[in-house]
Amino acid sequence: MFKIISITAGESHGKGLMGILEGIPANLPLDAAYINRHLKRRQKGYGRGGRMKIESDTVEIISGVRWGRTLGSPIGLFIRNRDWENWKEGMSDSPGSEGSIPPVSRPRPGHADLPGILKYNQDDIRNILERSSARETAARVALGSVARAFLEFFNIRIGSFVTSIGKRSLDLSTSELSPEELQALSERAETSDLHLPDESREADFRALIDQARDEGYSLGGIFTVFATGLPPGLGSHIQWNRRLDARISYAFMGIQAIKGVEIGGGFMMTRRPGNEVLDEILPEDPPLFRRETNHAGGIEGGMTNGMPVIVRAAMKPIPTQRRPLRSIDILTGETVEAAYERSDVCAVPAASVIGEAALALVLADAFLEKFGGDCIEETRRNFDGYMDSLSRRFRDTF
Ligand SMILES: Cc1cc2nc3c(=O)[nH]c(=O)nc-3n(C[C@H](O)[C@H](O)[C@H](O)COP(=O)(O)O)c2cc1C
Repeated sequence: MFKIISITAGESHGKGLMGILEGIPANLPLDAAYINRHLKRRQKGYGRGGRMKIESDTVEIISGVRWGRTLGSPIGLFIRNRDWENWKEGMSDSPGSEGSIPPVSRPRPGHADLPGILKYNQDDIRNILERSSARETAARVALGSVARAFLEFFNIRIGSFVTSIGKRSLDLSTSELSPEELQALSERAETSDLHLPDESREADFRALIDQARDEGYSLGGIFTVFATGLPPGLGSHIQWNRRLDARISYAFMGIQAIKGVEIGGGFMMTRRPGNEVLDEILPEDPPLFRRETNHAGGIEGGMTNGMPVIVRAAMKPIPTQRRPLRSIDILTGETVEAAYERSDVCAVPAASVIGEAALALVLADAFLEKFGGDCIEETRRNFDGYMDSLSRRFRDTF
């Protein structure tokens, strides 16, 4: 049923992160520089910790690409951890290095630490935190950029912007924005280290993060990710797990610290009557049907309807805080302060880039499910044929 398989491996302070993507057709133009550009975007952002200054991620394409084009075989990617030199002993696979660094024993509220050691029978929280860390998302962004390159081949564009951090929030509704207006917001956000589309609010948002850093606590926020240029009919109404909105929510909830996902108007729609939030269907050049609003966020009945897909995601505050919360030492049973390791104060701008990767992976999967193709030329033929047949079908009706 699903056409793309993606998997990541790697620990935060291990040798590096790996990703494998299977299902991308042959002959898609792809180079490492394109992936690196998106890896760099993930690392930026006001409020990130010292780690991001150490890591400057670059990808090594291990397999699946020859002379700038995909081969149709699994695409293997590797991102080396620059910090590995300092962790060779502490993260060694050799039993001889056991005990070379002290165990982490004070679980952080909100992290995977406590449930992880209980489930995996560990005495050292490091054996959990190394993998639960959002460093893993470097591999996900690398894989997502391959999916994104595939979508761009069909003029499908993905973008994002941050709309709130802590109590600071932009008053911004996406329900009436055209694809061009969405793109413009994303381009504006791209020039901001807060990934904010409104320059006039930057100082205000920045001050909030500065205050959190000074006082030793962390912040979450909300971001929007969208895709434009999608054909109608990706996803399906026929089974719950084929609904595109279900698949998007799954992928977004799979991002560390994401605790809420909305499609289009989401929760807002519960407060307004149907005649205000259901998007009327109006004629346009076939195969398109014009909508003056997009409260549905581009998805009806689990399928794209031709309008931009719009996703909003909520990120909770980062669990590692310089002023730690109370916890229990798992080795001594004492009440202690939770562990602190160099950490982000706010990572909402980075999360929006990770959200783009999550959306790209889901959409590329749904696109290939509909159009198939072992090589990109075949996918193109199938796509063009579908779009032509939709145009022809409605040409005489309107
Ligand atoms: C881009 C990004 C950066 C993050 N940076 C940190 C960090 O520096 N320190 C931390 O404790 N958590 C960080 N997190 C959040 C944790 O990874 C996450 O809260 C943890 O894995 C527990 O998962 P859960 O919050 O989904 O339950 C980050 C998350 C993202 C998406």
